[in-house]
Amino acid sequence: MDPRDSRRIVELGYDRIAERHAEWATRTRTDERARYLDEVTGRLPAGASVLELGCGVAGAVTQELASRFRLTGVDLSGRSVEIARRSLPDATILHGDMTQIDLPPASFDAVVAFYSVIHVPRDEHAALFTRIATWLRPGGVFVASLGTDDEPHAHETDWLGVPMVWSAHDAATGRRLVEDAGLTVERAAIETADEDGAPVSFLWIIARRAE
Ligand SMILES: C[S@@+](CC[C@H](N)C(=O)[O-])C[C@H]1O[C@@H](n2cnc3c(N)ncnc32)[C@H](O)[C@@H]1O
Repeated sequence: MDPRDSRRIVELGYDRIAERHAEWATRTRTDERARYLDEVTGRLPAGASVLELGCGVAGAVTQELASRFRLTGVDLSGRSVEIARRSLPDATILHGDMTQIDLPPASFDAVVAFYSVIHVPRDEHAALFTRIATWLRPGGVFVASLGTDDEPHAHETDWLGVPMVWSAHDAATGRRLVEDAGLTVERAAIETADEDGAPVSFLWIIARRAE
């Protein structure tokens, strides 16, 4: 599939299910979100500068980040951005594609991407991780969930009511691409949880840019 079509499916899909996804997220993988949010917050001083890629409508993770840090959120879905901006008027919420958006180098203490890189075509992951490494300050931390299946193009016609696409490398390749971007992996763990009755796994990465 042309990456532009894939992007359009993701954008239109989240435009339509922004609220529905947010409600679903309040009862799906809440433990994982909370634990990895703690991994982020525990590594940062108050007032640090945080970039969240794929912030959606600003659910619990985004709210907590915005309450403690200077938050910049980015999302592809205009509808999600609209809702997030209303909910967090003091945060900077940008409407854009994480693989294209222009952000100043070495300007964030942390980059967070919970369940969002999974929608980016995997051929673009290496370049995306390099961009993320560039946006981090020396010593900055990257915390993200990636897919674990060697699957260039997974597609569902009815996911929460809309067509949706995902893309991933196997876990070893995902980790290697993060390292190839110049980030040191502190921890990489596959987390499996029940999602609507089926076990689904993600690779959680905690990585740092060298001091
Ligand atoms: C599964 S939701 C996760 C939302 C939130 N991070 C959470 O944990 O609930 C994925 C989000 O990533 C956004 N997204 C997908 N591809 C993106 C891209 N290329 N650039 C920016 N945002 C993207 C979607 O619009 C959606 O809001």
